[in-house]
Amino acid sequence: MLAANPRATRASYPDELKAMLSIEKARESRAWLACWDKISPEATPLRELPGLAAKLAVGGIGVKDESARSVLGSFKALGAPIALVRLIRRLWPAHDLDARGLFEGRYRSLLTHFTVVSATDGNHGKGLAAAAQTLGCRCVIVLHANVSVEREQAIAAYGAVIVRIAGSYDESVAEAARLAAVNGWHVVSDTSYEGYEDIPRDVMQGYATIAAEIVEQTGGRGYTHVFLQGGVGGLAAGLISYLWEFHGAHRPRFVVVEPQQADCLYQSALAGRPARATGSVDSVMAGLACGETSPLAWKFLQPGVDDFMTIHDDDAVDAMRLLAAGSDTDVPIVAGESGVAGLAGLIVLLRDAQAAGKAGLDGASRILLINTEGATAPATYRELVGESAESVLERQAAWRDRATA
Ligand SMILES: Cc1ncc(COP(=O)(O)O)c(C=O)c1O
Repeated sequence: MLAANPRATRASYPDELKAMLSIEKARESRAWLACWDKISPEATPLRELPGLAAKLAVGGIGVKDESARSVLGSFKALGAPIALVRLIRRLWPAHDLDARGLFEGRYRSLLTHFTVVSATDGNHGKGLAAAAQTLGCRCVIVLHANVSVEREQAIAAYGAVIVRIAGSYDESVAEAARLAAVNGWHVVSDTSYEGYEDIPRDVMQGYATIAAEIVEQTGGRGYTHVFLQGGVGGLAAGLISYLWEFHGAHRPRFVVVEPQQADCLYQSALAGRPARATGSVDSVMAGLACGETSPLAWKFLQPGVDDFMTIHDDDAVDAMRLLAAGSDTDVPIVAGESGVAGLAGLIVLLRDAQAAGKAGLDGASRILLINTEGATAPATYRELVGESAESVLERQAAWRDRATA
C-alpha cells in the first residue's frame, strides 16, 4: 500500500530541524566512530546493480551495503556508541572525557558502576552492549517475546545482562524505562518518547555517517529516489536530515517502507501525527517490527518523506534471494530480513504502474537503497535464502575477482 504524504515540503532544510540534526554534528560523530575498533575503517561499499536496474526498467540502482559496516552486522553499530559517548560526556563534564580515550577503554575505572539499559529488536541492543563493553560500563538489554534466541545470544556475547519479557517491543521499551527509574540506570534507546529526546537524537546523528559517505562516493551527484526502511523512524530521520541539508530544495524523493503488520509510520502519515501500528507488529523483518513511531523522528519524516508504503513478509524474503543470487553484472549481496525492505518496496511499487507513476518512478529514476544489515540471524538467513551467508560471501568474492581480472 502506498500513501503520498500531503505534508512533504520541498523547501531548503528547516532551521528548527538543523538545530537538532546537522551535517556539522554528523561530522563530529563520524570522527568519533573512527576511534572504535568495531567499525570498519573504510566506507561501506556503494554497489551499483545495472542488471537489476535494466530488469526493473529504471535508470540505476545503488545499494549502500551496511552489512560491511561492522562485525556487529548492521548500521545500528553507528548509533548506540555515539549516544553513549555523548551521554557519558554530559554526565561527567568536569572530567573532560575524550571520545578516543573512551573507545580505548581508558576511563573504565570511572565507569564500572555505571549501567545503561535499553529495549531492542536485536541490532540496537547488540550495538549498545558492544559499546558498553568497550567503554567499560554495565549494560542491561530488555527483549520482547518475539526476539529470537539466536539474536539474544548475539547480544549476550557482548557481556550484556538479558531481561526477557512476555510482551511486545513497545512493552519492552516501557520496561527498560521502569528498570532505569527503579535502579538509577540510564536508558540509551533508539526511540524517543515524551521527555526523552536527547539520546535518540544522538543515536540518529550517528546514522548520518552513512549519508556522509554516500555524498563522498557519488561526488554529491544525486539520486532521484531514496528508499528507506522504517522501524521507529530513526534510520530514515538520520539519513533524510543529512541529505536534505546537503541537497536543499533539490533533495531526492524519500520513500519509507514498512512491514504491513508494523505500519506505525504509514499510519502517522495518514493521521498527520505520530501514531500506532494497526497490525500484529510481528514480522520476519525483526528490526522493523515496531508498533510506535518515535515522535522525534517524526519531526523529520512528516515534512521530509514523500511517500509511505507497506510490504508483505514474502516480498522481503524474495528480495533477500534476489540480492543473494546476483548475476553476471550484479555482485551477490548478503542482505538480512530488514536490510532488504527498501528493495522489496521498490519492486512492489514497480509492479503497479499507477503506484509507480504516483511515486514518480520511470526509466530515468536513479534509486538509492540501504542494505541496513547482513545475516544478523544466520540460521534464519540460511533458512529463508536456502544458502548460508558464508556461501553467498564466497560467491561475492569470486564475482569481484572476475570483475577485476
Ligand atoms: C536492520 C535494520 N534496518 C532498519 C531498522 C529501522 O530503524 P529505525 O527503527 O531507526 O527506523 C532497524 C531497526 O532496528 C534494523 O535493525
